[in-house]
Amino acid sequence: MTGLTGVLGLDGHEVAEVLAVATLAPSVHNTQPWRFRLAGDCIELHADPARRLPATDPEDRELRLACGAALFNLCLALRARGIRPLVTLVPGGDAPGALATIRRGGHRDPDDETRELVRAVPIRRSNRKPFRDAAIPAAHRYALVRAAEQERSWLHVVTDHGERARLQGLVAKAHRIQREDPAVRAELAEWTGPRSDDGVPPASGGIRPAPQDEWALRDFQAVERPPGKDYESDPLVVVLCSFQEGPLAELQAGQALQRVLLTATSLGMSGSFMSQAIEVRPVREELRRAIGGVIVPQTVLRIGFGSPVPPAPRRSVGDLLMDSISPG
Ligand SMILES: Cc1cc2nc3c(=O)[nH]c(=O)nc-3n(C[C@H](O)[C@H](O)[C@H](O)COP(=O)(O)O)c2cc1C
Repeated sequence: MTGLTGVLGLDGHEVAEVLAVATLAPSVHNTQPWRFRLAGDCIELHADPARRLPATDPEDRELRLACGAALFNLCLALRARGIRPLVTLVPGGDAPGALATIRRGGHRDPDDETRELVRAVPIRRSNRKPFRDAAIPAAHRYALVRAAEQERSWLHVVTDHGERARLQGLVAKAHRIQREDPAVRAELAEWTGPRSDDGVPPASGGIRPAPQDEWALRDFQAVERPPGKDYESDPLVVVLCSFQEGPLAELQAGQALQRVLLTATSLGMSGSFMSQAIEVRPVREELRRAIGGVIVPQTVLRIGFGSPVPPAPRRSVGDLLMDSISPG
């Protein structure tokens, strides 16, 4: 891409590459609700209000999770180039309206973990298909828990059978409530199907739900289920949590979400989301009580060893730039 201003010691071409890495983050219905401004000595990350989902995500909580995930990717891309990012979340007067600002904090050679995670960015995908019936090694689970902790968040691993059954019930209940809500259904329909650079295409939608499914996955009008094809009997199910409520905690949880997903990818695993139980507020409160009542559930993931799935489309970097601010 041409014509981009340089920033953080990068030329315009490098800035475009770094922002392209940011755009590979996940977002609800693949809305990609982020925008960027090149502002003198920093990159500003903003939400894109045109991409809100007022029925599914009325408080913009998931929008901020997605922007946090994009922020994680952006910082990772900078670190891979030897740039230490200095991030301010919700900077206020410094950059009105921005969710975060990223400045250059000096040089540091990238470590092995950075290299591994940045390699995982383009191969990470939401995988809604059945996983292989293979147990997840304890060391893999530990790596995911550690990934969330590194980003000041918490990964609650559902191991207890009773808790698992309760969570299944909550996901199913929220799923039913959303299916009966015409506004939620309309948003799902709007973002599902063949769209050129956003939304969830049929090939990414997994397989059609069936009555025997234990977990209620969102129905993206996916491809017909091959005969006899069922979901794995024992996926790893985790609840990503923050320690506090509010925009800052949500941005941190988004960063943690992306570190967890990229860590999973680097270990050969993939994940899909079951956010219904978080999106329906009263069910979210029930879920919060079910996992102890203190930490704040932000998203629910199913993780396992999957077969390959195609990438979901992305908007081009040029479409994501706000008017830049020239250095004074
Ligand atoms: C906060 C959040 C919640 C999500 N919730 C769901 C969900 O409930 N069901 C689902 O199938 N996908 C969910 N997704 C996944 C997105 O649909 C997916 O990230 C998007 O389509 C882009 O595809 P990719 O992840 O393969 O890049 C969620 C993503 C985010 C960031």
